Amino acid sequence: KIPLIIDCDPGHDDAIALMLAASASDVFDLRAVTTVGGAQSVDKTFYNARRVLTVIGLDVPVARGAAQPMVRKALSGTEIVHGESGLDGPRLPEPDLTPCNLTAFELLCKVLEEAEEPVTICPTGPMTNIGILLAVRPDLKKKIKEFSIMGGGFYMGNWTAAAEFNILADPEAAKIMFDSGIPIIMSGLDVTHKAYVTREENEVIRANGNRCSVLAAELIDYFSRYHYEVEHLPGCTLHDPCAVAYLLKPEIFTGKLCHVDIDVNGQYTLGKTIVDWFDHTHKEKNVLVLHDVDRPAFVELLTTQLAKLR
Ligand code: BDR
Ligand code: CA
Repeated sequence: KIPLIIDCDPGHDDAIALMLAASASDVFDLRAVTTVGGAQSVDKTFYNARRVLTVIGLDVPVARGAAQPMVRKALSGTEIVHGESGLDGPRLPEPDLTPCNLTAFELLCKVLEEAEEPVTICPTGPMTNIGILLAVRPDLKKKIKEFSIMGGGFYMGNWTAAAEFNILADPEAAKIMFDSGIPIIMSGLDVTHKAYVTREENEVIRANGNRCSVLAAELIDYFSRYHYEVEHLPGCTLHDPCAVAYLLKPEIFTGKLCHVDIDVNGQYTLGKTIVDWFDHTHKEKNVLVLHDVDRPAFVELLTTQLAKLR
């Protein structure tokens, strides 16, 4: 099994990423969930992660992480995407998990220290917790197998013309991660915009009938409004589940190994992932840049996996 940590900011698509990971307990050994401020404040994302895991019925340690980016102020305006709660739309229960009194940093260190084999980390929010971990405990790098992240984009941005939200939210933290030498699989906007679910497909998910599928459909109902009304996209863009789906079924994705830098100074391109597609720099190819997905296979994977949950 793949030892896994999910570092997230739920967030509608983060919640679905958590469900997808939980649904594949034959493939993943989910050791911890850490939370970060991003889609909403860290108090809200910490609460949301525990509410979603309560519905899933998975009693995994969940820790509260960084409230603010490493050097900048937090981005504002996310309620237009995820609502005031960070998870507007469905009704969710109060958290009912065994409390974890560690911070995200402490929990990350503990899981990595105890791991016998290197652990995969899947960040689906701003990379602040990871930046802090790598800066403070570089000795633990050898305990990290790879990062499968949702963030960045080659051709486009979604929070500015150039930058994707998770990278722009904490570019310095992202830079520490991209410069770490640890392999990265990047599900950026190039691929996540191809990983959408149409209204009709969402009805198939809902028709699974189990509680988690119905919750996922309700999350998609809310989240898709932004994609239809503001971004004029053909469906609900499931960014964060891509980072988990790649680990589950890499063969449905297409990617290219490239050198990627993070712009931390740009006037127009702050927070952009600078992808050296044609290898101009001859720098180490540190990132597998995913750029395509077999969309029907992705939707099928999601639909069948969600049906396995309660
Ligand atoms: C990212 O931003 C958040 O709104 C989503 O959860 C996703 O992680 C997409 O840019
Ligand atoms: Ca997210």
